[in-house]
Amino acid sequence: MWGWFASLLAVLLGAKYYYRATSGVCRSKRRLDGKTAIVTGSSAGIGKEAARDLAQRGARVILACRNVQKAQAVADDIIATTGNKQVIVRQVDTSDLTSVRKFAKGILDTEAALHILVNNAGILGPDEKKVSADGLELTVATNHFGHFLLTNMLLELLKSSEPSRIVNVSSKGHFACKKVDAKDLNFEKRAYPGSMQTYCHSKACNILFTLELADKLRNTRVTANCLHPGLVMTEIMSKEGSFLFRYLSWLLFLITSKDEKLGAQTIIYLAVDEDVENVSGKYFSDCKVAPTSQVVKDRTVALELWEASEQLVKLSSEDVHYKGKPTDDAQQKA
Ligand SMILES: NC(=O)c1ccc[n+]([C@@H]2O[C@H](COP(=O)([O-])OP(=O)(O)OC[C@H]3O[C@@H](n4cnc5c(N)ncnc54)[C@H](OP(=O)(O)O)[C@@H]3O)[C@@H](O)[C@H]2O)c1
Ligand SMILES: *[C@@H]1O[C@H](CO)[C@@H](O)[C@H](O)[C@H]1NC(C)=O
Ligand SMILES: *[C@@H]1O[C@H](CO)[C@@H](O)[C@H](O)[C@H]1NC(C)=O
Repeated sequence: MWGWFASLLAVLLGAKYYYRATSGVCRSKRRLDGKTAIVTGSSAGIGKEAARDLAQRGARVILACRNVQKAQAVADDIIATTGNKQVIVRQVDTSDLTSVRKFAKGILDTEAALHILVNNAGILGPDEKKVSADGLELTVATNHFGHFLLTNMLLELLKSSEPSRIVNVSSKGHFACKKVDAKDLNFEKRAYPGSMQTYCHSKACNILFTLELADKLRNTRVTANCLHPGLVMTEIMSKEGSFLFRYLSWLLFLITSKDEKLGAQTIIYLAVDEDVENVSGKYFSDCKVAPTSQVVKDRTVALELWEASEQLVKLSSEDVHYKGKPTDDAQQKA
């Protein structure tokens, strides 16, 4: 009995060791002195470790978080471990469009430049449908709409700071999303499919939007890429979902998962590595381009989604910065 148990344990530990040993690592030594970066959801998990790495490279790092107290403790820790004092906390709740607008205005008023925007904050959906202050389904509001508005509002600053990079944290979970319906992004016409399906739907939206944005930024030196970080043991599973779901996923993560530092590697790679300075509109996993599902390759859906999202977040014309000025094309050719 014990021998059997010991062998099982050895196999599981071996699997975990193998998973970690083969996971992608950012090898770039590039410094970021004089650069400014924003990481949303950096009070925990892979966002926290990505922020720490950017600070280690000398960047001014803005932790964009909903819980200021929790984030300040992380900022203090990053300052202590990196010696970089340019690590600051700004409050934003990505599920709340008013909060996103306020945050973005604050950045535009105070920051002279922005070189890296990491859209990382995310939740797993709740079991029962919840609606945000703006009447949007809570998961898609947190994981997609808030970042959509934020990215659009900061685009002018990213463009004036080019070369600059937008990094979107998506998930392999997007494969489970069978359809993105731009006419029903908030599950008003269809039944709410539960936490995991809703999460996967929001992550498919992340990829579709990254592709659409990359296309809209074709004539600039602003890149937009998205990624799957791998299975990472973070807080995300303990915040939402039923007890059984949390217990099962905790077991899965215990067997095969990266730690937060490894989980942050593909974010860091896309944010700093010289290899990808001209790469845009791609989906990465383990610091390599990875295949996506068929659903998120549909450019018609991507455009429909973009337009529906513009309406749902009430994007005002002064916040539209992706439209190339008429002369852009001409200059590009010249
Ligand atoms: N862990 C994985 O295996 C895995 C796999 C695929 C993709 N991902 C993606 O990786 C990203 C980071 O997740 P994680 O695993 O690091 O989870 P985590 O430890 O739970 O961290 C999530 C972060 O997002 C923040 N956040 C959540 N809702 C927010 C809101 N409304 N406004 C502002 N910030 C908010 C959290 O803030 P609080 O500290 O206040 O809660 C926290 O800082 C997510 O986009 C997730 O979908 C993770
Ligand atoms: C990701 O990227 C697009 C812009 O490319 C943005 O509109 C979208 O909401 C972002 N989402 C997240 C959370 O990554
Ligand atoms: C990216 O493009 C710039 C400008 O065209 C060029 O100088 C640089 O070598 C390119 N980098 C890579 C890694 O291809």
